[in-house]
Parts: sequence; structure tokens; C-alpha cells
Amino acid sequence: MKATALAHPNIALVKYWGKRDEALILPHQSSLSLTLSPMSVTTTVEFGAASDQVELNGHVAKGSERERVLRLLETVRAQSRTALGPARMVSRGDFPMAAGLASSAAGFAALAVAARAAAGLPRDTRAESILARLGSGSACRSVQGGFCEWQRGERADGEDSFAVQRFDVSHWPELRMVVAVVDRGEKDVKSRDGMKHTIETSPYYPAWVKDAEAEVPVARELIARKDLQALGELCERNAWRMHCTSLAADPPLCYLEAGTLGLIQHLREARKKGVPVWFTLDAGPNPVLLTDAAHEVAAEALARACGALDVIRCVPGGDAELKQEHLF
Ligand code: PMV
Repeated sequence: MKATALAHPNIALVKYWGKRDEALILPHQSSLSLTLSPMSVTTTVEFGAASDQVELNGHVAKGSERERVLRLLETVRAQSRTALGPARMVSRGDFPMAAGLASSAAGFAALAVAARAAAGLPRDTRAESILARLGSGSACRSVQGGFCEWQRGERADGEDSFAVQRFDVSHWPELRMVVAVVDRGEKDVKSRDGMKHTIETSPYYPAWVKDAEAEVPVARELIARKDLQALGELCERNAWRMHCTSLAADPPLCYLEAGTLGLIQHLREARKKGVPVWFTLDAGPNPVLLTDAAHEVAAEALARACGALDVIRCVPGGDAELKQEHLF
């Protein structure tokens, strides 16, 4: 009745931006990401508690955070053949929330894997990915390591909307992602609100959906060939296009700050000097630089010279896994 799982965050190379179903978290388009190490979230779930208890990083979870966890646990109870009762859940991340990394992705992936195991259900990456998706869309891509593709699916019940691993963690070990924290603050507009507002008011949104869907197989092909330059260029244009749809919303939604632009404008100069470095940007101000092992030190130096407050160097990460040691 008790299980513990560890999962890593992921950063999308082709972003997910917008839901066709808010309740089931079904996307308008497919997306593709890289799972990242060394950061991870570890989660222990035990069914049979006196009442539902949710603890995240040493705090009792409240509001929508708690609701999302309880909803996921409720889905596991419905899938299980035995009466499980209330659950205690404790989760701990080993990286700063202000890192600008989607900690919720690692968190919900670890929760999905741990909750199913605690309920006695067998490991099944498809079922785990669908379950993680109910907590946070991008979490469905953190159940497995390496490069994962979230296929949008067609069905109204979401049973065909989950992530599949295209290349495992060993495919491209020299690839690096360097997170440049230019602002440690919480973002003003959460992804889920930002994407909803964009769908409702941006005339560019349909163009984004069409373009992003078409970029997924292109990115897959470039990853297969390990073509860093072409993948870097694809990453940048996809990030720009996502941010453009939001800039065209009414009122406009701008996640970029002066520090964001300052850094990404320097990348062109760096490339001219022979440093292969490109950026991607989630719904926040902190760029994530894409480069290789031979240039990660140069990428970090560039980020710091452009005012980054913290820099986190990441390598490709592996699958979410069950652990023997529990958090309680
Ligand atoms: O899954 P959410 O609600 O954290 O949304 C993630 C959205 C982006 O990070 C901007 C893009 C992505 O694909 O991860």
C-alpha cells in the first residue's frame, strides 16, 4: 500500500501551448521534450491513511495544488479493484522552484508512478503518462527519459493522449541544456491561464497549432540525426512562435523581460564566434540554452556575463523509477 517514485523534469523543444479540453488536459497539438538530469522529484504515496494528506516540499498543500493531487489519487482509486481508502502523499524536489524549470512536470510524473504502484497496479508507461497528464499536461512527458513525444490524440476521453519515448537517455549523451535564471520571482500568469487567454483572444493561435504539429516530426528527424544546429534553429523558432501567439493576445501576454532579451540577443554573436548555442523559453523569463558538452562551460559563462543570477547545467535524464526507500 506504500510506494515511492523518482522523476525528472523536462523541457519542451516543441512546446505544448493550449488545451482543447480543460478538464482532461488534452492539448490542441503534439509536443516533444527532453527529460533532464540531475534534478528530480521524489514522491511517496501510502493508501489506508486516516484522511487525505498532501505535503509538498515540507508544506501542507492547499487550494488548486491539493485539488490536482487529490484528483489524480481519486483516478487511481477508481482504477484499482480493491478499496484503498484515503492516502498520505509526501513529495520533495531537489531543485529550487525558482529555477524556472517545470517542477510540476517531475512532481506529477513521480506521483503517477508512485500512486499506481501503491495501489498494486503494474508498471505501465502509457497508463502512468495519462495519469500524470491529469495533474499537469507537461508531466505526461516526464514518465520516461530521453526524448518524449506527447501525441495529442483524437479521442474525447483522452485515452490516446499520452507521451511516448522516441529516443532513450543514451541516444545523445553529449546534448546539454543550461538553464539561465534571469528572474527568481514567481511568474505573474501561470501557464494554464496564459494558454487559455491566448486561445480565447489571439488571432494567431490557429497558426501556432498548425505549425507546432508540423514541427514535431521535423524535430524527431533532427534528433535522430543529432543535428544540433538545425535542432537549435527549430527550438528557437518554435519558442518565438509560441511567445508571438501570446503577445498577440488581448490584452497582450508578455513573458519576456529585459534580462531575457539581453541574453538571447547575445546568442547570435556567440554563434558567430563558433559557440553552438540556441535558446528555448517556457512561459516565464528564464531562457534554457541548448548546446553540447564541449560548450556548456562557454554557455554558462555567456549566461552569467549577461546577468543570469543562477545557472543550472543539465544532461539528458532517464525514466521515472520506483525506489526502495520511502520519505516516511
Ligand atoms: O503543463 P503545464 O501546465 O506546466 O504547461 C507547460 C507549458 C510550457 O512549459 C510553456 C510548454 C511545455 O510544453 O512544457
